[in-house]
Amino acid sequence: KMASLGQLTAGIAHEIKNPLTPIQLSAERIRRKFGRVITEDKAIFEQCTDTIVRQVDDIRRMVDEFSRFARMPKPVMEGEDVADTVRQAVFLMRVGHPDIDIEAEIKDEPLRAQFDRRLISQALTNIIKNATEAIEAVPAETLGKGRIDVIAARDNDDIVIDVIDNGIGLPKVSRARLLEPYVTTREKGTGLGLAIVGRVLEDHGGRIELNDAGDIRPGSRGAWMRLRFAISGHAPKPEAKEQAPETKQPASGTVEPADATNNETKIEAATGN
Ligand SMILES: Nc1ncnc2c1ncn2[C@@H]1O[C@H](COP(=O)(O)OP(=O)(O)OP(=O)(O)O)[C@@H](O)[C@H]1O
Ligand SMILES: [Mg+2]
Repeated sequence: KMASLGQLTAGIAHEIKNPLTPIQLSAERIRRKFGRVITEDKAIFEQCTDTIVRQVDDIRRMVDEFSRFARMPKPVMEGEDVADTVRQAVFLMRVGHPDIDIEAEIKDEPLRAQFDRRLISQALTNIIKNATEAIEAVPAETLGKGRIDVIAARDNDDIVIDVIDNGIGLPKVSRARLLEPYVTTREKGTGLGLAIVGRVLEDHGGRIELNDAGDIRPGSRGAWMRLRFAISGHAPKPEAKEQAPETKQPASGTVEPADATNNETKIEAATGN
């Protein structure tokens, strides 16, 4: 379903972009050719041609950003160590944020699984980056010390990576919406971070779960993000599910990845990531 959505989006993006260049060139040409000779309402003439050029540019940037998301690379699954991947991502984020205590805790070692190391690292980095931004949003007098715990463990046939921060906590909007592309509460955010994480985990037979830090550590402030993916690198076949005797209870506040199509989604200007 997601692959066909991606192809569809790429196709639409292409068709939208095609006429943009002639529109823009025409507006620029009109401005150059007639700008000098127009005497009446010159300001309006300039304002209108400027608007066309600028808005067309915005559309192009937005479509580029969207198709970049739609064309997410297909994961290349390889046998790798999750522990090592987690430690490396944590190390890199620590270098960039020396003021925050970022700790990795590996519950089971080794933690071997089939996954695309580059994509899972990218997903984890997006989550830790969000955590650092949530911590930076806490007023200095109430923060104490910023702290992010990254805990990796096995959970039956899944790998689970918990990221718990003491930042401002998730905003009071529906959590499914936060996973949609272009939904952001941050001034400079593109809102693609969580959408990419959701897509990557889905491609690994998993999902992302958004919770409050207080759910796992009563009374504490912040968010608790749970990244889950299958050790096998793909979702279990339907018949394999029936053989498994235990039914897993999803954590409270669990949400399924949202469908990427929603025309109510707030569209933010792309700032690049
Ligand atoms: N750890 C967190 N604590 C509090 N809020 C969070 C956390 N992680 C995500 N959010 C909320 O979810 C929103 C969407 O996150 P997402 O990563 O998709 O986009 P972004 O961080 O705003 O932009 P970008 O990832 O492009 O920089 C954020 O704007 C923020 O409101
Ligand atoms: Mg983000």
